[in-house]
Amino acid sequence: MNWNTRFSDAASRIADADAVIGILKLAEQPGIISLAGGLPDPRVFRIEETQEAMAEVLRDHGPEALNYSPNPGITELREFLATRMARIERIRCSPEEILVCSGGLEGIRHAFNALTNPGDPVLFEDPTYMVALQVCRELAGIPIGVSSDDAGMIPEALDDTASRLAREGRPPRVLYVGPSFQNPTGRTWSLKRRREVLEVAERHDLAVVEDHAYGELRYEGEWLPSLKSLAPERVIFVHTFSKIFGPGLRLGWVAADRNLIERLGLLKLGTDQCSSALTQRLALAYGKAGGLDAQVERAQDLYRRKRDAMIDALADFPCRTPWLRPDGGFFLWSEVDCDTEKLLLRSIERHGVAFVAGSCFFADPNSAVARVSIRLSYSYVAEDRIPEAIRRLGQALRETVGS
Ligand SMILES: Cc1ncc(COP(=O)(O)O)c(C=O)c1O
Repeated sequence: MNWNTRFSDAASRIADADAVIGILKLAEQPGIISLAGGLPDPRVFRIEETQEAMAEVLRDHGPEALNYSPNPGITELREFLATRMARIERIRCSPEEILVCSGGLEGIRHAFNALTNPGDPVLFEDPTYMVALQVCRELAGIPIGVSSDDAGMIPEALDDTASRLAREGRPPRVLYVGPSFQNPTGRTWSLKRRREVLEVAERHDLAVVEDHAYGELRYEGEWLPSLKSLAPERVIFVHTFSKIFGPGLRLGWVAADRNLIERLGLLKLGTDQCSSALTQRLALAYGKAGGLDAQVERAQDLYRRKRDAMIDALADFPCRTPWLRPDGGFFLWSEVDCDTEKLLLRSIERHGVAFVAGSCFFADPNSAVARVSIRLSYSYVAEDRIPEAIRRLGQALRETVGS
């Protein structure tokens, strides 16, 4: 059967992602050093403590853990998350304002699904998290990029873009952002920018989806308030256990207005009904034993060292714009003097090193800046391989620019 002729519009709209995934599959060959994926370093996992928490779950809650959970999540876990967010993020919300979901990504999907119709514009930082763009496209939203710089989204650019769309008769209603250690740039918005962007969001009545996936992985600089804590009503806060415990749990959560949370729960009935009771119980037992805080601390030390190792290795790397030195998270971002999709192919095929070409992170993947952008991840690669990875990449770049 020719399945290509049978795909729905939604499945056809996401076909572009295939190019990226296809190239990255090449990176799985033996001998390739990958700076591509945003995977946690395996050394952050605390296997013994996880084993103890899992044993406790099965001993004390076995039948419940192996059953379905309530649709919005296990009540005790929602209570735990509300208390933890108040302590760490100074976010005040009740357990009823939290939906536990199967990874932060599920929360993003339901938020887009609940708040946008096909054809609606959805505003993103340029560049932004690739999979959020993909979800928007799949749901037939129209991603619109808003210019951003090292201090975050540019409020005037947001205002101009929202005003222009309103004049065109299609006012935007949703803004998706990653203000802390963003994927892909690693940048963190200043407090001033956070306030200014929220003011513009207020003026244009935008619902703000704040992705906090890397937010706890700060290893330098001052703690900054989340958008959610600055504008509790307007912001839909999406967080995940993926970077503070493990992506293998497939567990995240959304904190938002109670009415919206109930609606997201109804959408969740149609995806997986409820998230895994087993991993919810595990996250709760591990969290109550102090596991999350201990793991975050370990992760901060490790990623700080790896960031420094990569920045040192990049000292003479020929790029167009200086690499931003992120205060947290997993990524470095820059622009170079060639098309980075071409560079990626050469890097993998001839030099055995992989990264992610920048184009997939932009609402318009064909813009001039998208074509020359590059994301390097230092989270997963072994520290002692970083200098060699950067040496290989530099060689591939010199050849590509010269060809
Ligand atoms: C910016 C960002 N948001 C959300 C996610 C989704 O994470 P998960 O679905 O594993 O919670 C990721 C995953 O890497 C991410 O980079």
